[in-house]
Order: sequence, then C-alpha cells, then structure tokens
Amino acid sequence: MLQQSSHGACPFVAGTRRPDEPYPGREALRSAGPVVLAEAPAGGPVAIVTTAALARDVLGDPRIVKDTAWAPLGWDPRAAELEPTAARALSLTTTEGAPHAALRRAHAPMLSPRRMRARRDAMRDTARELLAGLGEGPVDLMAEFTTRYPLAVVGDLLGVPRAMLDDAVEACRRMFGDEADVAAAMGGFARIAATAMQHEGLARELRERLPTDVTDEQVHYLLFTLLFVGQLTTGPALGFALARALTEGAGDTAALVDDVLRRDPPAPFTLWRFTAQEVELAGVVLPPRTPVLVDVAGTADDPDAGPGPGLAFGAGPHLCAAVHLARAELVAAVDVLVTDFPDARLAVPATDLRRVDPGGIAGSRLAALPVHGLRPRERSGSS
Ligand code: HEM
Repeated sequence: MLQQSSHGACPFVAGTRRPDEPYPGREALRSAGPVVLAEAPAGGPVAIVTTAALARDVLGDPRIVKDTAWAPLGWDPRAAELEPTAARALSLTTTEGAPHAALRRAHAPMLSPRRMRARRDAMRDTARELLAGLGEGPVDLMAEFTTRYPLAVVGDLLGVPRAMLDDAVEACRRMFGDEADVAAAMGGFARIAATAMQHEGLARELRERLPTDVTDEQVHYLLFTLLFVGQLTTGPALGFALARALTEGAGDTAALVDDVLRRDPPAPFTLWRFTAQEVELAGVVLPPRTPVLVDVAGTADDPDAGPGPGLAFGAGPHLCAAVHLARAELVAAVDVLVTDFPDARLAVPATDLRRVDPGGIAGSRLAALPVHGLRPRERSGSS
C-alpha cells in the first residue's frame, strides 16, 4: 500500500503570479527527495520525480508507460484530462514499444533538422506577415499571435490552406470547453486534416509513409496531435520569449529561447505516465497503475538535465517529435519581432505582466502581452 508523504504546498494549484515568481510548491518538492508522493488532481497518489538523473531513467523505463489504459481505475478520464487509450486512438503519445517506434519512423524524416532548416525563411515570413497584420497596437500578442503563429507554421508544413487558419484557432479554443465543444473541435480538426491530405505537404507524406492498414481517420488523429500539441506548447513559450526579448533585448536568440524553455517549460511535468507493474524508484515501491510525473521545471538548475533547454522536450522514446521545428519556429518569431519591428515595445511596465497557472499538469502562460509600436521596418524609417 502506498503511503502519502507530506511535502509542503500542492504543486498543481491554479493561480496567477509575477513572471519572476517561482512555481508554487516546487521548492518544497525538490527538497523532499528524488521521488515525492503527492495527491494527484484526479485523486489518489502520484509519484513525482524531482532529479534530472532519475527523470532520464524513468522516461526511458519500459515499465512506466503512457498508455492511459494503465491509469488508476478510479480516475474519470475527462476530469483527469486523459488522452484516449492506445487501443482507442493510434497516437505517438500513448503507444509504446514496436508500434510506437514504427510511428516515430514515419514522422521522423518529415521533422528532421535538415527539413526544418530549409523552412526557416518561410517561418520568418509567416511571423512577419502575421505581426504586420496586427496594426501598430497596442495589441495583446498572447491573444492575437501566440496561438495563430504556431498553427500557421505547422499548418503550412502539413498542407493546410491558410483559409482554414481561423478554423484551426477556433478548434483549439473549443478543446477547453465542455463535451459538446470538444466534439465540435475534433470534427473541425478532422476536416482540416482531410483537407490537408488533398494538398501538397507533410500530411499527405505522412499518409504515404504509414502502412495501408492505418485508416485515414487514424491519420487525422495523428495530424490533430501535431496541430493541437504544437500550439499548446509553442504558444506559451513564445509569450515568455517575446516578453524577455522586449525587456532584456534578444541577444543570442537561440540561447534566449533555450533558456526560456528550460526555466518555463510548457510541459512542466511531462505528460501522465503509469506503472504497468510494480516498480521501485529511489527506494519507493510503486504498485501497478501508479501515476508518475517528472518535475521538469524543477530540474532547471540540475546539471544532469543537460545543456540548452534541459529536459523541456522530455527524453527517451517519447522525446518531443518536433524538437527542431519548435526551436526553429520560436527563434524565427523572436528574431522577426526584434529585427523587423524595431519600435515594438511593451505597452505596460514589465512588472505588470502576470503568468497564469491553469492548475493540474499544464504549464503557465502570460495572461496578456500588450505591445505597441508594431511598425514593420520599411515604414518605421529606421532601416
Ligand atoms: C516549445 C515547444 C514544445 C515543447 C516544449 C514540447 C515538449 C514536449 C514534451 C516534453 C514531450 C514529451 C512528453 C512526455 O514524454 O510525457 C513532447 C512530445 C511530443 N511533442 Fe512536443 N513540444 C513542443 C512542440 C511541439 C510541436 C511544435 C509539435 C508538433 C508540431 C510537437 C509534437 C509532439 C509530439 C507528436 C509528441 C509525442 C512524441 C512521442 O510520444 O513519441 N511538439 N513534446
């Protein structure tokens, strides 16, 4: 039987704080040991791994799986915000072993460093076009840019017509609504995916790279994951990176982006994992079906997290499938803001910015990023 241990403040609470205020409860977690038992938002214990070295072991441990079929039996999948089980929806995020490796092989060439380098100018053009379309401001970049831009970048890659960008933004918004909203959003994503598969782009390439026994509906779900996960993660990171570039100056943009990802990881706990058998971690015995999380945000200063973004993209077989895409698109947007919109400034004092923790395992994001002076270089007369 698992024993709850006290570790101080709950790390899953929703709230609002200044950008430089630490994650609530995280300090207490780290000082409580390498594996800390906490109360999961959906009830019951969750084991949280707080050191980078143990995190790497856990993220590569085949006994600790992402298939939500292994979630605690008492959990309500909707309340716990669980993805469908691997048996219900073919997905990179929930499959394991050989089927997972086959899916990774199908995706990998499409998201390779070489392919992403070749898209750099296109990403910059997209950032410039969307920012220029916002007017001089004041404009809230969190509301008007940080969701649209990642969707436009991934949509362009997949072959989604730009005319469907508003549909994609709306579908993402409805994913946070009630059951009817989520169903409508999934219908919207399926239409977007089906349309993309009729055009030149990676959606069609993915279809061709997958075995024929994978149905078109299953491919739609895989494309939904790329679109939805892509903006869910890149959007908040973009807000923090743009805010820092506007207050501190961008300097080495790639280093700034990596530091933002390390300090403010969009997936601060990685996603849910569950023990598929009894597992001992740092002396703590976890029965089957124990939820396991990694405190990625807490490992920011841990040298074992590795250089650059540290563990922000995860590690092991489920390492983010789009590391090169995500970094390239963040760097492109920050570069474009500081070089092509030289008069852009925060429209409020930096001390007025606030970050919102939505609660649960989701990462924080800026509540708003009001900016003015968004004049493209040609018109600003400063070129
Ligand atoms: C700054 C941006 C991003 C961050 C920080 C990030 C982070 C992560 C993390 C931590 C994981 C692993 C989660 C776990 O193991 O529990 C992951 C997986 C994944 N990410 Fe990203 N991600 C980002 C951008 C993107 C983008 C742009 C896409 C797609 C266009 C994407 C697609 C995926 C997919 C498909 C997986 C599942 C991989 C697998 O399970 O094999 N991510 N991401």
